[in-house]
Amino acid sequence: MKTESVNKRQTEIPVITLDGPGGSGKGTIAARLARRYDWELLDSGALYRLTALAALKKNIALDSENDLAKLAASLEVRFAVNRDISKLESLVLLEDEDVTKAIRTEEIGVAASKVAVFQKVRDALLQRQKAFKVAPGLIADGRDMGTVVFPSAKLKIYLTASAAERAKRRVRQLKDKGIGVSLPRILSDINARDARDMNRAVAPLVPADDAVVIDTTEMGVDEVEKRIIELIEGRF
Ligand code: DC
Repeated sequence: MKTESVNKRQTEIPVITLDGPGGSGKGTIAARLARRYDWELLDSGALYRLTALAALKKNIALDSENDLAKLAASLEVRFAVNRDISKLESLVLLEDEDVTKAIRTEEIGVAASKVAVFQKVRDALLQRQKAFKVAPGLIADGRDMGTVVFPSAKLKIYLTASAAERAKRRVRQLKDKGIGVSLPRILSDINARDARDMNRAVAPLVPADDAVVIDTTEMGVDEVEKRIIELIEGRF
């Protein structure tokens, strides 16, 4: 019995989930961890963003659950990761078109949050997400990674930060890309998106019961990364 459980543990592929609201820093941290350990990276938000972008391109209404689910199931997506440079620079291709930048706009973020409320859309993307679990391990970034997609993950982290701080970070990020936006406008988008993601009936954004919650409002990204590395090394 003991040997059996040891073998089972050895063959189990470890998963670390990072959930939390937009702007909590999970994308950056997930990419850094995946690079550090050379593990697979799942940016599940990108799948919802791609569904939203494809829907807008094909004139599919963002409240048409069945059509959106069909679209999500048939998305022709490729993530081309450049391991030599940085996971942060991975390309996202939709039907062979480079949409890396197009999916990152504020509008597509809002649209993604709208298509993500539908059970059938989430079901259509589920297997695609689970398929990212490959050896030697997976870092999964999203809203429901620890609660729905990988409930038996070895380490679950929930990153959060105040809405005001997340809005400031987002404005800074957009400014670095040469995009000027107003802080009140971004803050109101963030509040609306939080409300939708947290209050939806299906897979709402909520920390898993066994998640470690880290509030990054007063923390720099290096500090957050250090804290998480300590957690990983304590647990693995
Ligand atoms: O993390 P992000 O900003 O790229 O996510 C965009 C939207 O996609 C987010 O507002 C809600 C949805 N989403 C989700 O519902 N479940 C996930 N696991 C990831 C994202």
